[in-house]
Amino acid sequence: MKIISITSGKGGVGKTSVACNMAVGLSKMGKKVLILDGDLGMANVDIFFGIHPKKTVHDLLNGVPLKDCLTAAAPNIDMLAGGSGLYEVSQMNAFQRREVLAHISEVSFIYDYLLIDTSPGLHDHVLHLNSVADECMVLLTADPSSFTDSYALIKVLHQKYRVQKFSIICNQVQDEKAGEQLFVKFADVVQQFLPVRLNYKKTIPFDSQLKLSNQLQRLIIRQDAKAVSAQALSSLCRDVVSQNNTAASVAGTAQGFESLFRPASGHA
Ligand SMILES: Nc1ncnc2c1ncn2[C@@H]1O[C@H](COP(=O)(O)OP(=O)(O)OP(=O)(O)O)[C@@H](O)[C@H]1O
Ligand SMILES: [Mg+2]
Repeated sequence: MKIISITSGKGGVGKTSVACNMAVGLSKMGKKVLILDGDLGMANVDIFFGIHPKKTVHDLLNGVPLKDCLTAAAPNIDMLAGGSGLYEVSQMNAFQRREVLAHISEVSFIYDYLLIDTSPGLHDHVLHLNSVADECMVLLTADPSSFTDSYALIKVLHQKYRVQKFSIICNQVQDEKAGEQLFVKFADVVQQFLPVRLNYKKTIPFDSQLKLSNQLQRLIIRQDAKAVSAQALSSLCRDVVSQNNTAASVAGTAQGFESLFRPASGHA
């Protein structure tokens, strides 16, 4: 199971939209996906899928077996809901987070991908969830505060958790060219100050169809495969799968779940 976090410095840049559409895109390619709604206490992956989870991570921490806490979101997609309005969940400590991850590790053989939709910002749980990912996808928009907040997130993840590599997704930009330019501008600044590797992953253009689909609780990749955003998201999924296949054939195995227990140099 490869673990991918979808994260950002600034809120509202499109993490949940990307995570949910990616889950559907990967499932359409025959992959089995688990989504962890890591926007703890403010979780909304369920809303994007139009489902009503009966159990959340809160129940898991109260001793309910993981299999009973998972909700089928769509064919080949299960989710562990993060709970909305649950103060205790938003205040989960490092021990509890490790417990949740340990439970997930027990089902890792069932899934090809674990997608973690995080909250925005620099909270400990955001940093911790990103630090266990094999690939940390940072969403960037042209908004100046997205630029500075993404920089801050990368800096803290690098300094506190020694994360070295980041994949950048430029979202809500005009077109691919604008996305590439945004990436170059961002990478120029980051690489002046931080010894990290940034990988340009994909541009997802601003698409009013995606916004409309979200409002109707539909996922664009399912709703209108020809929409510009759906095409970019499908292309992202194809890249993710082909990269994973290459990694597996080089390493002899897919990315390991042992990363969940990777010693983080931060205070997870
Ligand atoms: N490529 C896009 N084109 C148009 N609208 C988009 C695009 N990506 C996201 N949006 C819109 O941006 C808004 C925020 O999206 P979303 O909830 O996915 O962001 P988020 O990063 O998960 O937010 P939060 O930080 O609050 O969790 C939504 O209205 C969504 O429809
Ligand atoms: Mg979100």
